[in-house]
Amino acid sequence: MAKLYGIGVGPGDPELLTLKAMRILQSVPVICAPKSNYDSDSFALSIVEGVIDKARQEIIPLVFPMSKDKEVTKKFWDESAKIIEGKLNAGKDVACISIGDPLFYSTFIYVLENLKERLKDLAVEIVPGVSSINASSAAAILPLAKANERVAVLPATYEKERIRNALKDYDTIILMKVNKVFDDVLAVLEEMGLKDKAVFISRCGTEEERIVRDIETLKGKELDYLSMIIVRKQE
Ligand SMILES: C[S@@+](CC[C@H](N)C(=O)[O-])C[C@H]1O[C@@H](n2cnc3c(N)ncnc32)[C@H](O)[C@@H]1O
Repeated sequence: MAKLYGIGVGPGDPELLTLKAMRILQSVPVICAPKSNYDSDSFALSIVEGVIDKARQEIIPLVFPMSKDKEVTKKFWDESAKIIEGKLNAGKDVACISIGDPLFYSTFIYVLENLKERLKDLAVEIVPGVSSINASSAAAILPLAKANERVAVLPATYEKERIRNALKDYDTIILMKVNKVFDDVLAVLEEMGLKDKAVFISRCGTEEERIVRDIETLKGKELDYLSMIIVRKQE
């Protein structure tokens, strides 16, 4: 049976691709690249464009629309898993690329679960990637933890109460997927006196990278999906 690779390609800077990811991406006949709708480009694919060979390798875009409707997303995971199953059954190794790390808030996880149900003898290898959290911490030169400090990571799309609790209980709090709920998060940070401890990082590792420390200036603005806030309470 051919092998399925889950490859983390890092947060955006092609230099953060690991040597192992590069070696596998250059050797597989099929590369599957996620994108959020039919006419958009795949950000993950743009990261690896310099190391793959589109003339020799088959590149398959996998569409994963952003939807809270489980039935809708399941249909797309099914479709993607079916395509990958076909390639594996034909004896072709397949590399699925993911932004950052493939097992951290990644759609690849659902596709993998789906494929495990379809193929009982599925051979899988995961190549970890530099997560956007580590890359954002590095870009902002903001330590995530030292000594006995505790770190929480949560999607900001959670209810405000859960964000409030995390901000109360942890030393460093990372709020992912913050773009659509930024103003709500800002209000919570202001209310808890933590606004000045928060840093906004967007499109880290790309030419459009933004690091904003006076986060109030972003109020009411349209923000990129590839954005997070890191709140570090200690100096
Ligand atoms: C679906 S999660 C993917 C996480 C990814 N698997 C990882 O390991 O970083 C998408 C969220 O990751 C964060 N993210 C991904 N790439 C980023 C980047 N280049 N700069 C800032 N945040 C990023 C944002 O919070 C975004 O909403």
